[in-house]
Amino acid sequence: MNPTSHASVDTAGELPQLAADYRAVRELSRTLCAPLCTEDYCIQTMADVSPPKWHLAHTSWFFEQFVLLPYQPGYRVFHPRYDYLFNSYYVTHGTPYPRPQRGLLSRPTVDEIYRYRDHVDAAMAALLAQVPAAHEDDVFGRTRLGLNHEQQHQELLLTDIKHIFAHNPLRPAYAEPGADVAAAARPVQWLQFAGGIAEIGYAGSDFAYDNETPRHRVYLNDFALASRPVSNGEYVAFMADGGYRRPEFWLSDGWAAVKGNAWQAPLYWEQQDGSWWHMTLAGMQPVDEAAPVCHVSLYEAAAYAAWAGARLPTEAEWERCAQDVAIEGNLLESGHLRPVASDTAASPRQLFGDVWEWTASAYGPYPGFRPLAGSLGEYNGKFMSSQMILRGGSCVTSRSHIRASYRNFFYPGDRWQFSGIRLAADR
Ligand SMILES: [Fe+2]
Repeated sequence: MNPTSHASVDTAGELPQLAADYRAVRELSRTLCAPLCTEDYCIQTMADVSPPKWHLAHTSWFFEQFVLLPYQPGYRVFHPRYDYLFNSYYVTHGTPYPRPQRGLLSRPTVDEIYRYRDHVDAAMAALLAQVPAAHEDDVFGRTRLGLNHEQQHQELLLTDIKHIFAHNPLRPAYAEPGADVAAAARPVQWLQFAGGIAEIGYAGSDFAYDNETPRHRVYLNDFALASRPVSNGEYVAFMADGGYRRPEFWLSDGWAAVKGNAWQAPLYWEQQDGSWWHMTLAGMQPVDEAAPVCHVSLYEAAAYAAWAGARLPTEAEWERCAQDVAIEGNLLESGHLRPVASDTAASPRQLFGDVWEWTASAYGPYPGFRPLAGSLGEYNGKFMSSQMILRGGSCVTSRSHIRASYRNFFYPGDRWQFSGIRLAADR
């Protein structure tokens, strides 16, 4: 659903559901932070990482600025300077506080930020109980957008906590390791797809981001897609074959990144007594050879594919396959908080969950794309340069947040996301 051109809301049926969804999504942010100590909330380990308390405040700011101030008569902001501190990147709205300095804010305290959340939640509950008739569609659409925005930040929260804890030599655990998943990696099958005209993009009546629209035709050549993501064991074989020392596999920018950053393994990997371990949300754990490889950049994904004699799928190929697949898998609700091997017989496996899958497609506008009106048009459209598309969600993505048409995007050198590899090939 497009927040600014939404079909008329059935207020009797949809608004109570929206209010319930609001409470559930907001509560999950609090639940995800429950294992944190006050000191954990304040750390920023790099510019891409935000302190947990900033995520909690920024997601509240979004509702305050884009729903409550425009549509709740008499709404009073919690603090007049929060519009500066917690604006992420909406430059047509105001000047944001510098992103790399989010970790320098000891105030507002964590307690104050939780009171800010309570203040916003009380006002949102009042608004959703009695929406001004003239603004039903806008309130509905923007609240839905705000909830999806908060789900994105819930994933970032876990991704960033992992980076924060990995930076600490004590290697703290955010959660218990959980049950072992003893599945072996099933052999890869190559699923064959006939080429022709396909349709991708979102055309339903539920929520989707503007960047998933409009649905449009694409031409696909015959192609094949691997039945599962690349495993840690397969990636270790690439490393053992000199993967990080052989420039013939690498894109030029990728080889520069290998040299400049001294990459020798995925992010968070360490060798201990001859075997590989890696930082997880349950602290340091041995690398499970059967689980999907994770925390690799697009450069590493492309180099692995070249070594394996294959390539990465385009986003249209990926979506063509995912359109027929149920949205289930190792998503946030599974509680693993790490990619795990799958022993299901389904094929393809693990399209949804476990790891975001890098594609060979650059992030750009679909034919006929129109960003949302006003400052919300900055949500997606202005990032359509120099980034690459990832598909399918990860082990820290909420199930209700992901769909076949969902387009995630990061810079090709980024590794702190739960990003992995699925191979494709020409037929
Ligand atoms: Fe945001």
